[in-house]
Amino acid sequence: MTNPDLITVNGDRLWQSLKDLAEVGAYEDERTGLRGVNRLALTDADAAGRRLVISWMEQAGLSVRIDRMGNIYGRREGTDPAARPVLTGSHIDSVATAGAFDGCLGVLGGIEVVRTLNERGITTRRPLEVAVFTEEEGVRFGTDMLGSAVAARRLSAAYAHALTDRDGATLGDELARTGFAGPVDERLDAPHAYVECHIEQGPVLARAGVEVGVVTGVQGISWQEITFHGRAAHAGTTPTELRADAGLAAAQLIVRLRAMVDSGSYGELRATVGHLIVHPDLTNIVPARAELTVDLRNPDDAAMARAEEDLAAFLRTLETGQPGLSIATRRMARTAPVPFDEGVQKVIARAADDHGLAHLSLLSGAGHDAQEIAALCPTAMIFVRGEYDGISHNPREYSTPETCAHGVDVLATALLRLADE
Ligand code: GLV
Ligand code: MN
Ligand code: MN
Ligand code: MN
Repeated sequence: MTNPDLITVNGDRLWQSLKDLAEVGAYEDERTGLRGVNRLALTDADAAGRRLVISWMEQAGLSVRIDRMGNIYGRREGTDPAARPVLTGSHIDSVATAGAFDGCLGVLGGIEVVRTLNERGITTRRPLEVAVFTEEEGVRFGTDMLGSAVAARRLSAAYAHALTDRDGATLGDELARTGFAGPVDERLDAPHAYVECHIEQGPVLARAGVEVGVVTGVQGISWQEITFHGRAAHAGTTPTELRADAGLAAAQLIVRLRAMVDSGSYGELRATVGHLIVHPDLTNIVPARAELTVDLRNPDDAAMARAEEDLAAFLRTLETGQPGLSIATRRMARTAPVPFDEGVQKVIARAADDHGLAHLSLLSGAGHDAQEIAALCPTAMIFVRGEYDGISHNPREYSTPETCAHGVDVLATALLRLADE
């Protein structure tokens, strides 16, 4: 080994960057008084966060390029300019009720690695690149891992640019409005390897009392929007048998999904209805329309497909069982389970061992940009433990400064070793 690759990063500086970025889009949660982050993709807050991250990239000497999806790449040259780069990164867009870590740790961790290498005068053979992918969360434009999926060619830029938010703004419009419609081709050339550091967002590491996870892969994700069309009618005068109640049908679906999960017939299925609205949304009117989203997760693709089919069959039963009710479905996103590269997992596990950090291997419950980039190059992820049972997509999301620094130490060593391959 030519480089001292067991470096440790500056944990205080990493923590300060996490805190500074969390101020962009910060809000106070009314009920708990906690400070959270609301930085939906390509809003003004996200644009401000992007500008801050780019300024940090430039201060760290990275040359920054932006592609036509608004994906941002900061590059640190290696000694062999022809060698394919080692890529790290994640996203800084957030859900509307986020904490400071989801995605941000991977981006700011990557920048912190570069700062540390600069300070120590460490060079690598391969270039290192830090990526910020657009609309990982998928909550504004309806498809998750969008920027990385386009970079990896699973989805086209034309599809992505045409997606609209609830107010009718397209992603293409919002890229232009915020100044992030870059000139660079959105199709990423295959890197040598990709490593993403991320907060676990679940309870596995917390319950095991271990700080670092080596991620074996990501489970499948199925998102669809379901619209129930019924008939608006007077709440006091309309006999029950004359109603076409869209709200009732939506409720039946929600209960059915839970029963499917509890049945155990679909493997380790998880099902969530996180968005539900009824129209006209008034006390004394039978709902004419109900719209909801269904989020299914499953590590087993065959079990996922069965759940999707049985859900569709249940919707047909609902439709035929209630005169006047019709149901429309729209696919928002669908990804198969993605196993990560065993070689990169070994590099991460060895880096954790060499830092004296206990680790365990686990499957990711959440979706990540890494599952898209895995189509381009050997890929794996480092998880860091979240406190409070790993709660996430909630302002309470928290990992300690020490744990974050340890995760990024592992990232630094893994990147250095991959960059000298
Ligand atoms: C993204 O955070 C997801 O897994 O829903
Ligand atoms: Mn994330
Ligand atoms: Mn998230
Ligand atoms: Mn995610």
